Amino acid sequence: MIIAVDGPTASGKGTIAKALAAHFGLPHLDTGLLYRAVGRQCALSHGNADDPLDALAACDFPDSLLDDPELRSEASGGLASRVSVHPDVRQALYERQRKFALQPGGAVLDGRDIGTVIAPEAAVKLFVVASVPARAERRFREMQAQGRAVSLAEIAADLEARDQRDRTRAEAPLIAASDAVLLDTSDLGRDEAIAAAIRIAAARQTSKD
Ligand code: C5P
Repeated sequence: MIIAVDGPTASGKGTIAKALAAHFGLPHLDTGLLYRAVGRQCALSHGNADDPLDALAACDFPDSLLDDPELRSEASGGLASRVSVHPDVRQALYERQRKFALQPGGAVLDGRDIGTVIAPEAAVKLFVVASVPARAERRFREMQAQGRAVSLAEIAADLEARDQRDRTRAEAPLIAASDAVLLDTSDLGRDEAIAAAIRIAAARQTSKD
């Protein structure tokens, strides 16, 4: 069974995807991390994230970069969102994601275009959303826990800029697949959001059996 979990930054999709993977015993891929690695590699090579050739060259990042804690920073998220607009970058990362989705037994992938582009045949598609204040607050707490100094206002502005870029890009924009189930986590705690996602996935799985 393939489970696609899409949605904007800090909507809770990563936490939900991990929990679904554990619940259904499936491997999980955080596809945002791939774009973050491309953005980080581009910066490390002194490239320009807005230049399609520099961004494409950065797709050859070493796998060890995926363990770099710097990938979790807001700066890497911003770079990821800039390199991800280039069609050649998306194409370069497509095969890796597609192969992961098609492994025997299935997989859980989270990102922006899993249900629409990477695995349109997914049995379960969730589109996870939350209000900007709820997402900014979550990201703020995460950053504080990591000892990173950023203001709540800065985080909210960055989230909105990233949402805008992700939603309006020509290639694979952030959009819910027509057969995705919408899950709004604004007023849900972590465990409530996970329980709701498991309920939706289990119901979908049963209806497709
Ligand atoms: O999910 P995360 O915040 O780690 O993603 C970072 C950025 O990577 C997103 O803002 C988006 O621009 C890009 N991305 C994407 N397609 C995906 C996953 C992430 O374009 N499947």
